[in-house]
Amino acid sequence: MDVYEVIGRRRDVRAEFTGAGIDDDVLQRVLSAAHAAPSVGMSQPWDFVLVRDPGTRAEFHRHVHTERARFAAGLTGERATTFDRIKIDGILESTLSVVVTYDPERGSPAVLGRHAIADAGLYSVCLAIQNLWLAATAEGLGVGWVSFYREEYLRDLLGIPAHIRPVAWLCLGPVERLHEVPDLERHGWRSRMPLEQVVHHERYTPRDA
Ligand SMILES: Cc1cc2nc3c(=O)[nH]c(=O)nc-3n(C[C@H](O)[C@H](O)[C@H](O)COP(=O)(O)O)c2cc1C
Repeated sequence: MDVYEVIGRRRDVRAEFTGAGIDDDVLQRVLSAAHAAPSVGMSQPWDFVLVRDPGTRAEFHRHVHTERARFAAGLTGERATTFDRIKIDGILESTLSVVVTYDPERGSPAVLGRHAIADAGLYSVCLAIQNLWLAATAEGLGVGWVSFYREEYLRDLLGIPAHIRPVAWLCLGPVERLHEVPDLERHGWRSRMPLEQVVHHERYTPRDA
């Protein structure tokens, strides 16, 4: 697959995980792709915690569903009915989970390029996640990003030190298929906007959300 094909095929996966195994060399390639991401000042502020234990995953799944209920409680009318139909994770069904963290102290204090924009460290971690996502897609695997959690809870669950931020819980594994249309679009939650709506020329022109 060329890069545009992989970008086009990538989906956030919740319901299509088969739970089948992943070859060690495939997992190694996917993690190497993540680790090859650009990072501010070459800080490489990411770590990847591989979570296979069913007990840990079941515990996290319970927490995620408490947070799902909390979000749902703030919805009314059509939004509530639509959200009700949307599956937000494949924690139990996927083969394994990869928790990606951000260590702001790595390479510090003189992180080249981060003195004015502290978030540049976090941006770097997101690029590692995107590399992982695209490499997994190229390998025929699915990835699902779960963010319905409290950082403090996840720190406690996995023994992550206080100064390190968990950035993503990623469900990873073989899938029955990758849908052509994103789940949220298929369920009528929200659609991809036309490109023209987000491209500006010379100056930023405020537009409707
Ligand atoms: C930072 C981030 C957090 C996300 N959190 C969740 C989540 O908790 N549950 C979920 O089902 N999808 C989550 N997603 C997936 C998005 O819903 C998805 O990317 C979007 O609907 C577009 O679909 P696509 O990725 O299949 O193109 C997350 C995506 C990102 C980038």
